[in-house]
Amino acid sequence: MENRSLISINDHTPEELIKILDLAEKFEEKPKQKILSDYVVATLFFEPSTRTRLSFESAANQLGARVIGFSDASNSSVQKGESLKDTILTVNQYSDIIIMRHPIEGSARFASEVASIPVVNAGDGANQHPTQCLLDLYSIRKTQGKLDNLNIALVGDLKYGRTVHSLTEAMCHFNATFHLVSPTELKLPSSVKRFIKEKNLEYHQYTDLMECIDKVDILYMTRIQRERFSDPIEYEKVKNYYILKNKMLENTKPNLRILHPLPRVNEINEDVDNNPKAYYFQQALNGVFVRQAILASILGADPVNK
Ligand code: CP
Repeated sequence: MENRSLISINDHTPEELIKILDLAEKFEEKPKQKILSDYVVATLFFEPSTRTRLSFESAANQLGARVIGFSDASNSSVQKGESLKDTILTVNQYSDIIIMRHPIEGSARFASEVASIPVVNAGDGANQHPTQCLLDLYSIRKTQGKLDNLNIALVGDLKYGRTVHSLTEAMCHFNATFHLVSPTELKLPSSVKRFIKEKNLEYHQYTDLMECIDKVDILYMTRIQRERFSDPIEYEKVKNYYILKNKMLENTKPNLRILHPLPRVNEINEDVDNNPKAYYFQQALNGVFVRQAILASILGADPVNK
């Protein structure tokens, strides 16, 4: 991935994705190594974030890079009317790589076309979240010992959930069977289902999570994306559609692991947190190692324990 932008998970071959996961394992063994001390990483967050921004900044800091940027565009000159293009052209001159989150679908691709340095998509609207996808793949491989031939349930807001879109597309490389659980209004878009169909993979759609919970290896819970709804009444109708409770896990497979990109609102009850099948906070930690691998790979730096 040297010197390349990371915009959509589909821009990369399965071999490239696996290479990042293998590299992330090296950083998990040894996360503090000053291999990026010559680099400046810019984090431009036009939308709120806790995990993506801070895990990127932690990853960069632990590798010795300097980090600049903003976590709130209202503190930048965007507030004065500056365009995204001019912001990118400017930050391009101050840094070696741009990590950007933006509410508009396609904005990351646009930024990568404007910039002469690599751009990493940290989430563009309801479209893609490729770095979350890589840490999801890392977490799946780590907990299941493999990526191939798994049953995965994707639960919640499959329409607006960008993490679901990226993960579905990536898991199509690995012969997954998909269990798509959502309210009728929030089904997986046909543009994403197309990837499943092209690979002749199986998918099943449900509104009731209990119809498939005992069949799956991975239960990927997601938040209903309030900020993407144009009508607040429509959000109110579906906001509590799924609430996973500990007692619902009684007859699930022993190898089941529960993932969630976080933040959660109330779709996973806190009584699940101490269940050994709950993996979402370890998943968030894996984000640091995976983002170290992404930075090192794009900036062309090798880990010292290669
Ligand atoms: N998973 C994720 O993107 O979390 P943040 O919104 O906190 O970055």
